[in-house]
Amino acid sequence: MIFYFSGLGNTCYAAKTIAGVTSEPLHFIPDTGAESIEFKGESLGILFPVYSWGVPPLVLDFFSKLSDKFIETIKKQDIPVWAVMTCGDETGNAPDMLKSHLNSLELDLKGVWSVIMPNTYVLLPGFDVDKSDVEEKKLDEAVPRIKEIANKIKNKEWDSDVFKGSMPGFKTGALYPLFKKLGIFPKRWRWTQECVKCGKCAEVCPIGNIHMSGNHPVWGKECVSCLACYHNCPTHAIEYANMTEHKGQYVCPLGRHS
Ligand SMILES: Cc1cc2nc3c(=O)[nH]c(=O)nc-3n(C[C@H](O)[C@H](O)[C@H](O)COP(=O)(O)O)c2cc1C
Ligand code: SF4
Ligand code: SF4
Repeated sequence: MIFYFSGLGNTCYAAKTIAGVTSEPLHFIPDTGAESIEFKGESLGILFPVYSWGVPPLVLDFFSKLSDKFIETIKKQDIPVWAVMTCGDETGNAPDMLKSHLNSLELDLKGVWSVIMPNTYVLLPGFDVDKSDVEEKKLDEAVPRIKEIANKIKNKEWDSDVFKGSMPGFKTGALYPLFKKLGIFPKRWRWTQECVKCGKCAEVCPIGNIHMSGNHPVWGKECVSCLACYHNCPTHAIEYANMTEHKGQYVCPLGRHS
């Protein structure tokens, strides 16, 4: 059984590829009721994009809400738990954060891998999408790596192969809590005169945080900062305060979740 989250399709591609190779049933976290789901499959996989050198809060919340029965099944049947995280550059201590969260549920992480894929983060000065040659190179390298990871999982060859980057302790310990507290101010989202009233932003928001009013988007308070609305707008008409002016857009060309 695989649980995954993805905003722009990188992790979705990885999740679908691994599910195809391992035949594990695949569940998109925002569409899955954690309290009622029952375990099915040979292993338990978790896939997500790294957010601010940590695990997206909605992924941690999801695992906290799984039923006692679900957790007991994993423990009693000695089901291996593994994770794959995609990132633009580096994971920081996100793997350790996930491990300690699972440990608090008395679960162990047997295998953990990171995959570098094109960057989606654009909300702070100095952060932008990759140039097209960098994007292409990352995708060229990610595709065989994901295949290799999928085969390892299928063959139960557990491994810990992540790229943490520099100063992971500082980045995860100091910057992730700031991201959790101050990372997103939903009121800063706005549409500009380029808006053609197509409704795509509302359609792609994975948690239904956007509704259309007078044919223009209105953002609710639950934003998880996945940036799907921003990157998918066909006329680049979405801005986050003045942080995204002149920034690029990215949607994974390998296919997004449906
Ligand atoms: C809010 C946010 C925070 C991010 N933080 C990091 C980070 O700390 N390190 C990193 O390498 N990439 C970071 N990224 C980039 C994503 O992890 C990366 O592009 C990922 O592959 C996106 O996956 P998706 O297409 O499934 O959403 C961040 C992206 C977002 C939206
Ligand atoms: S996706 Fe862009 S153009 Fe379409 S409704 Fe949203 S803001 Fe307007
Ligand atoms: S409002 Fe935009 S950034 Fe926030 S969760 Fe929805 S799609 Fe993602």
